[in-house]
Amino acid sequence: MADPAGKATNHGYALARQLFDIRGDDLHVGGLAVREIVSRIGSPAYIYDGGGMRRAYRRLAAALDGFASIYYSVKANPARSVIRLFVEEGAGVEIASLGEYRAAIAAGAAPGRILFAGPGKRRAELEAVIEGGIGEIHIEGLDEIERIRAIGKRVHASIRINPVPDVQVGAMRMGGKATAFGFDEEDLDAAIAAVTAAPNIDLAGIHVYGGTQILDAEALIGGWRHAIDLASRVARTTGRPLRTVDLGGGLGIPYYANDKPLDLDAVAAAVPELTARMRAEPLLADARAIVEPGRFLTGEAGLYVSEINALKTSRGVRFLVLDGGMNHHLAASGNLGQVIKRNYPVVAPARMTAEPDQPATVVGPLCTPLDTLARDTGLPELRAGDLVAVLQSGAYGLTASPVNFLSHPQPAEALVEEGKIETIDRFRSMDVLPNREET
Ligand SMILES: Cc1ncc(COP(=O)(O)O)c(C=O)c1O
Repeated sequence: MADPAGKATNHGYALARQLFDIRGDDLHVGGLAVREIVSRIGSPAYIYDGGGMRRAYRRLAAALDGFASIYYSVKANPARSVIRLFVEEGAGVEIASLGEYRAAIAAGAAPGRILFAGPGKRRAELEAVIEGGIGEIHIEGLDEIERIRAIGKRVHASIRINPVPDVQVGAMRMGGKATAFGFDEEDLDAAIAAVTAAPNIDLAGIHVYGGTQILDAEALIGGWRHAIDLASRVARTTGRPLRTVDLGGGLGIPYYANDKPLDLDAVAAAVPELTARMRAEPLLADARAIVEPGRFLTGEAGLYVSEINALKTSRGVRFLVLDGGMNHHLAASGNLGQVIKRNYPVVAPARMTAEPDQPATVVGPLCTPLDTLARDTGLPELRAGDLVAVLQSGAYGLTASPVNFLSHPQPAEALVEEGKIETIDRFRSMDVLPNREET
């Protein structure tokens, strides 16, 4: 990007100053210079700022002011230390697979504080979580009702509803159109009838997940209002009270130069009205609202750091070739569902006082032009061996990346808090289920 005078610009530096400490030339995370953390854990690396995650959790909890319980959505970042941090803060956990269930249990989550959502839950997964204990299962389709019925043990469950299109919000639509997620709102009565007919299912509530990366507070609140109305409808149809109204996650963080952060004050201002809307329905009088964010809690607190391995100029473009790229960080390369490829914020974390005014295109080591982490951004003069950090990388980073593509080494991962580095087990598949099974 260039400013009107033609100088290269980069919004990453202003963001880095907002989110982290900068002392001298060095960006600090959790009380330590990124340069030092990398010298201890190696590069490439994901570095998570424990204090930053706690701050995000506490800001959201303060804005919600008791209206909704927060359940951390593990898919954003399944590192055990990260889950543990949110459990320590008082969060419940939302999971979408048996692997995530095991990670949540290993991180200390109480089974009763775990929600299981997600399409295509296999019978073996359902059996395992019901056996181990689970707060609620969010039912996504009729076949899931049959599987739970066949297992026979009593479960608390919610109906996941795919809302009608006009309440859709967010950058990536997960509901409101044809999806594999939940029951279409148009089919709600049939879903209620099927769930209530299953003798071992105790209908606890409803679940609506409208979309991800929502930066518009009004859109978020509009989706929540609609979810409360749907909960009232379900309760009135069954004539029984509901205990939970899961409003979904989707709270966004600013990635790109013109993104404005989600206005949490506007969310806080809507809380009395939302509470009144719930209380207006006697069958929701004792119901508890739930939000299940992932990105908002972890995204801003994570960096992906890699070393420059080579520099080259091709047809006037300066390329910085890093040790890792989209194989570790698919989202930053713009290939994780983004329609338009825009730059994630990048900085040189050990050269923070140098002007970032030299045009640079930052690429990874893969043999594909898709492996580009920032196009035509501004960075200081840099050499081989210098570090580049991609900010806003704590959510949907390593966990959403094709780590085996080109068989490069996997990155290190660490949670850093109050000067202490806790390294995280290398990424590995936790799936130990058989491939085929009876349904
Ligand atoms: C059911 C459900 N809950 C929560 C989340 C977390 O969303 P986000 O990270 O946007 O808050 C997702 C993300 O896909 C989801 O599918």
